[in-house]
Amino acid sequence: METSRKKVSLTGVKPTGNLHIGNYFGAIKPALELAETYDARYFIADYHALNTIKDAAVLAANIREVAAGWLAGGLDAEKTIFYRQSSIPETFELATLLMAFTSKGLMNRAHAYKAAAQANTEKGADPDAGVNMGLFTYPVLMAADILLFDSDVVPVGKDQTQHVEMAQDVAEAFNFNYGRDGSTNSNNLGLTIPTALVRENVAVVPGLDGRKMSKSYNNAIPLFCSEKQLRKFIMRIVTNSQGVEEPKKPEDSQIFLLYKLFANAEEQAALASRYRAGGMGWGEAKEELFRVTNRELAPLRERFNVIMEDPLRLDAILAQGAEKARAIAVKTLKRLRKIVGIQ
Ligand code: TRP
Repeated sequence: METSRKKVSLTGVKPTGNLHIGNYFGAIKPALELAETYDARYFIADYHALNTIKDAAVLAANIREVAAGWLAGGLDAEKTIFYRQSSIPETFELATLLMAFTSKGLMNRAHAYKAAAQANTEKGADPDAGVNMGLFTYPVLMAADILLFDSDVVPVGKDQTQHVEMAQDVAEAFNFNYGRDGSTNSNNLGLTIPTALVRENVAVVPGLDGRKMSKSYNNAIPLFCSEKQLRKFIMRIVTNSQGVEEPKKPEDSQIFLLYKLFANAEEQAALASRYRAGGMGWGEAKEELFRVTNRELAPLRERFNVIMEDPLRLDAILAQGAEKARAIAVKTLKRLRKIVGIQ
């Protein structure tokens, strides 16, 4: 009999390189908070990245950087199972198994594929131009990542909720076919139905130009650049033309929005009143932002550099995570193979 177990939180991180402050507050910090109360399983989705990154050196470097970034950001690899997707061959076997339960129509409706097809159509090209099967079947691989570990919650950004819903659909199709129950206390165990945990209450992190910080807008402040570079980035934040003497509204200023992420309540109140009083120029506000940002990021940067300088240790950490993850994955797959009649 299955005894009640601690709930599982799982998420995948695409190694797209160059983590920025938006990733830190939007993804890393909230996921690490969940690791306090859930059995957390976090991994680098390297095969997902292969769909778009076809340069081996770039992909290899991104994988290391993202892994080091999460560790430097506070992931405790003793407490959280931390591994590379590619180290778990059962993921790919499960993806094949799930293909049989995934309707093609469902994949046609995936946002990422639809967006690519639509962009092609607008250009007058074939809708499938440049679309590889990795992109088309992306949700199946993601469903395998999730379902392999009987994940209860999947912390993701809003853009990924459709993928988690597709994992639900596929799991339900599987359970329905075999008359299985995915609820975790049943000994008639099928696939556990996951729920997306959307980070609603995390602050939107504004980028240098005031839009949401994003790699694709080219407005990001990197998490691990040198102190000197960090200062340069902050000085590039776009401001309006208000002069030094003019009173300013903190709530309209992205300098202040960023400041709120790093400063304590007292510091926030103090800077807000300096804004309102007038007599403080944007340059000075940026200096104050740099001070608190660097205060928080300096220890992360140091940890990151130490990890990056010792590739063997990083490999060992990921290998240890893979070993723990595989112990679970092998069991799940054995159970599922039996259910479908392949033993
Ligand atoms: N698709 C996710 C992204 O682009 C990454 C990912 C892959 C993932 N597999 C996952 C997220 C499983 C959550 C669970 O960000």
